[in-house]
Amino acid sequence: MVVFIGSDHGGYELKEQIKSFLEEIGVDVEDLGTYSPESCDYPDIAQKVALNVAKSKEKGILICGSGIGMSIAANKVEGIRCALCHDAYTAEYSRRHNDANIIAFGGRTTGVEIAKQMVKIFLFTEFDGGRHERRVEKIGKLEA
Ligand code: RB5
Repeated sequence: MVVFIGSDHGGYELKEQIKSFLEEIGVDVEDLGTYSPESCDYPDIAQKVALNVAKSKEKGILICGSGIGMSIAANKVEGIRCALCHDAYTAEYSRRHNDANIIAFGGRTTGVEIAKQMVKIFLFTEFDGGRHERRVEKIGKLEA
C-alpha cells in the first residue's frame, strides 16, 4: 500500500504530523506537497493527489483549512470518491458504504488525534459491497 498525501498551507502542519504517523505505523507515503507553510492554491494539490489515486487505485489524503475545497476539487477528477470526514463514524462509513478512495479533512477544524484515528480507519476498512456496489456504480455513471 502507498498513500498519496497533499495539503495547502491551511493543512500543512497537520499533513506533516500525519506523514510521521503513517511512517510510524509502517505505511508508505508519497507527499505531493505543499512543502512549506507558504500560501498556495488547494486545487493544484488536489489535482496531483487525485490523478495519482485514480491511476494507481491506491488511496489518498487531502488536507486544507476546512477540507471543503480539497474535497470539492478532488471529486472533479474521474474515478475519485473523496469524502470530507470529521470523526471515526464518517471515516468508517466513507469506506464501508461509499468506497471512498480519498479522505479529506481540515487542518483548522480537526485535531491531530482525531485525524490519526480517521486515517487509520480509512486505510484499513473494507468496502461492504452488496447493495452499496450498485449505488457507487451510479455515482460513476454521473461522470459520463
Ligand atoms: C485557505 O485559506 C483556505 O481557503 C483553504 O485551506 C480551504 O479551507 C478551502 O476550502
